[in-house]
Amino acid sequence: MSVTAIVKLENVTKSYSMEGQTVAVLRGIDFSVYQNEFIAIMGASGSGKSTLLHILGCLDTVTEGTYELDGNNVRGLTDNKLAALRLNYIGFVFQDFNLLPNATVYENVALPFLYSRAHPDQSKKLVMEALDAVALTHRLRHRPSSLSGGERQRVAIARAVVCTPKIILADEPTGNLDSATSAEILTLFSRLHKKGATIILVTHDHKVAETASRKMIMEDGRLAGIP
Ligand SMILES: Nc1ncnc2c1ncn2[C@@H]1O[C@H](COP(=O)(O)OP(=O)(O)O)[C@@H](O)[C@H]1O
Ligand SMILES: [Mg+2]
Repeated sequence: MSVTAIVKLENVTKSYSMEGQTVAVLRGIDFSVYQNEFIAIMGASGSGKSTLLHILGCLDTVTEGTYELDGNNVRGLTDNKLAALRLNYIGFVFQDFNLLPNATVYENVALPFLYSRAHPDQSKKLVMEALDAVALTHRLRHRPSSLSGGERQRVAIARAVVCTPKIILADEPTGNLDSATSAEILTLFSRLHKKGATIILVTHDHKVAETASRKMIMEDGRLAGIP
């Protein structure tokens, strides 16, 4: 029996050109992730963790190498195909939440449905379920500015999971939170993991990394396992 990796990077590099100089940020990443893994990526600031996560989330492209998302080579896909793939597969939790300031909690979480063909009744049901899962149904009509940091992060998580993506990518999701709120957010991720999601989480916090089933470290654009 062969098991296909849901995420497969082969010899991936990423460089930027700045003032005529090429800066190598990812320097040859080979990384396979299997369904329902929970992976923590650690590493110093500037080592390339966010760049990697953006590539995995199809928010950025590789310079060299290949990225296969559940067997689909993402290079050369049309914008429409890529959008459809993202909708099915990727839930992205940004470190700074990336919520729309003028939209309510409900509207923020409903955002992915702007791009999906879900029936309005169905999308309403899913938004309410996602908000219930993060215990925020009492904040529906609030705007992000009137929420605490932990509440904002929970809205961001609800938005990331509302379309039940197969993969959840989270960039330092507890980086800005106090320890009690971090613990709450971690419980949320564990619950999503138990429900079958594949989770890849960037963190500086060893306690957070301990909840993962596999730990990796990014060092100067290269990724290695931590036993
Ligand atoms: N758009 C960009 N243009 C130029 N350099 C970038 C860009 N994005 C990231 N970098 C550089 O890539 C390196 C890695 O950044 P990043 O992936 O954000 O690291 P980390 O998330 O591990 O802190 C940094 O040196 C950063 O300055
Ligand atoms: Mg980063």
